[in-house]
Formats: sequence, C-alpha cells, structure tokens
Amino acid sequence: MYVAGHIVAEILQLLKEILRPGISTADLDAIAYSEILKRKALPAFKGYRGYPATLCVSVNQEVVHGIPSSKKIIKQGDLVSMDLGVIYEDYYGDAAVTAIAGANTSDASAVRLLEVTSAALDAGIQEARPGMHLKDISAAVQTVVEDAGFSVVRQFVGHGIGRALHEPPEIPNYGVRGEGPLLRPGMVLAIEPMVNMGKSDVLMLSDGWTVVTADGSLSAHFEHSVAITENGPLLLTKLD
Ligand code: MF3
Ligand code: CO
Repeated sequence: MYVAGHIVAEILQLLKEILRPGISTADLDAIAYSEILKRKALPAFKGYRGYPATLCVSVNQEVVHGIPSSKKIIKQGDLVSMDLGVIYEDYYGDAAVTAIAGANTSDASAVRLLEVTSAALDAGIQEARPGMHLKDISAAVQTVVEDAGFSVVRQFVGHGIGRALHEPPEIPNYGVRGEGPLLRPGMVLAIEPMVNMGKSDVLMLSDGWTVVTADGSLSAHFEHSVAITENGPLLLTKLD
C-alpha cells in the first residue's frame, strides 16, 4: 500500500505543477492516466460504479467527483481539487489536493479555505493512532473547520482502504470524541475533509457524479491514505 500511495502522491504533485490557466480538466485526466500506466499501476476510479475517468477534478463550487471534460478550461484563480486513486498489485491508494490555478489569486478567503482544509486533514491524521476512537478523527477535523467559520460536508465521508477502494469504516468529518471503533495497528484509512466556505449543504448535478455546494460557495478537499502503526500515523500518500 506504501507503493500504491507513493504513486498517487507523485502524480498529484506532478498535476499540481502542470495545473495552470488554459489547461482543460480532460488534459489533467489524460496525464494522470498515462503516468499511472508508466508506473505499472491501474486507475482505481475508472469504471468504479460507472465513473468514466481516472481523475476527479472539482472546480470552485464543485465539492467532489467532477468529471474531466475537454470543454472545461481552467481559469486564473480557479480553486481546483484533484482526487486520484490507483491500484498497485491489488492494493489501493487514494488522495486528493486542492490548489489555486495560476501564480496568485486576489481572493484571500480562498487561500484561507485551502489552509484550513489542509490543517483539518492534518488534525484528523494526528488522531489516527492506536487507542484512539474513529470519531476522534472526525471531531478533530470538525473543530478546525468550524473554528475557522467554515462548514464540513456531511453527505460524503472518508473510508477504510486496502484491497478495495472503499472498505469499512466510514469516516465522517464531524462527530463526537470517544465514539466509534477503537483504532488498531494495521488499519488503513482514507481521511478526506470536504469543506465549504458557506453552508454545508450540497447538491448532485444531473451527470450523476458532480457534487456542488447548494449555496454556490467555494469548496476545498484534501485526502491522504494513512496507515495506523504502533508509532502513530504513517502517511502513505505523502511525498518524501
Ligand atoms: N476519493 C474519492 C472517494 O474515495 C474518489 C472516488 S471517485 C469514484 O470516494 F469515481 F471512484 F467514485
Ligand atoms: Co477517498
């Protein structure tokens, strides 16, 4: 799973470097696909419940599961979430990053949304150790997000990961400390806060995949696959 995770991390890093105004979301998808095959891995999302692509690219008010399209051109200052899953020798890796297209943005609140969502993921990861309860992760994420005045999406959750993309348990991004199963070494969790600048409500577009904020506010998404070890959380999808 470390290899699968490392492949995801390398490709997301590459996509972040390539992301710029003028590129289409289908271009990003095509790069992700060829980079996966180069590394002797397979895309985990393509064909999953009929999902048509390698990458999910969710722009601005899109929360998750945006379908890449050659008609969708990235603009300067767009908030772009890229979510990637791969299979390497039957094991899965899954991670997501959100970045701002172009060198800068005039929207300081968008930068803050990214920082807070990333910090919420880090806070959740810190709880992923033996002896903690699953909802300690949820509560840590929720606290960081809500203290900053943003809201967590409730209709979508993180998940266990291993020989399948989605394994039990579900990992909500809100919850009460001390609840849920005890965490043990060997468990691997995909922790993935989805954070809206406005209200937490989301809608599904008619393509059956793209999730958007109901109020049209910006949304950010970060995800890591994390192994629980005796020594604490081990990030499988982090570079270095
Ligand atoms: N990271 C997302 C998840 O774990 C991506 C799934 S997209 C899908 O749910 F197409 F595979 F469903
Ligand atoms: Co996931």
